[in-house]
Amino acid sequence: RVRVAVLISGAGSNMAALVDAAGESDAPYEVVLVLSNKAEAGGLTVAEAKGVPTAIVDHAAFGKDRAAHEQAIQTVLEAHHVEVVALAGYMRLLTPFLVGRWAGRMLNIHPSLLPKYPGLDTHARAIAAGDAEAGCTVHLVTEGVDDGPVLGQAVVPVQPDDTPAALAQRVLAAEHQLYPQALARFCRTPD
Ligand code: GAR
Repeated sequence: RVRVAVLISGAGSNMAALVDAAGESDAPYEVVLVLSNKAEAGGLTVAEAKGVPTAIVDHAAFGKDRAAHEQAIQTVLEAHHVEVVALAGYMRLLTPFLVGRWAGRMLNIHPSLLPKYPGLDTHARAIAAGDAEAGCTVHLVTEGVDDGPVLGQAVVPVQPDDTPAALAQRVLAAEHQLYPQALARFCRTPD
């Protein structure tokens, strides 16, 4: 089975969905590491409760030195013999160093129907634009922000009285379905 590391910064609900799906008997991947750039990320506790090894590589410890932070991440990934990296609410931009090192083997989930709304505040922007539909995208990570080949998308309706929080919740539920499916498909046919 393909050895996957999940990178998180927060609650880690997508990470939990990936770990749970990896527990199915026909899963083509296993989650061998959950790595956070924040010591206080709630997802770390969730991962520990599921018996998944965790690591903290706190960006604050490296000041402005992004290269050193990413080198430290890379060292941990190599120590765990990671083959594929799945970003799941990892809220730090990556430099060409780590992106290049994992080209074609790093996935991300983004809470919009890319190419619409890269970046932050996707749900508020979809509502403000009057969109009838919103959703989420799993894509390969390239040097551009929320760019890169799309591996899968899921669509949800925007309701007339939606708030960004309500829409976020609806999209997040779709993320939990989409990401395990897209990662499994990718791990079965990596090229
Ligand atoms: C998810 O909605 C994910 O798509 C988004 O952050 C949330 C993380 O939730 N990611 C981004 O915005 C990346 N720029 P989670 O920690 O519960 O998985």
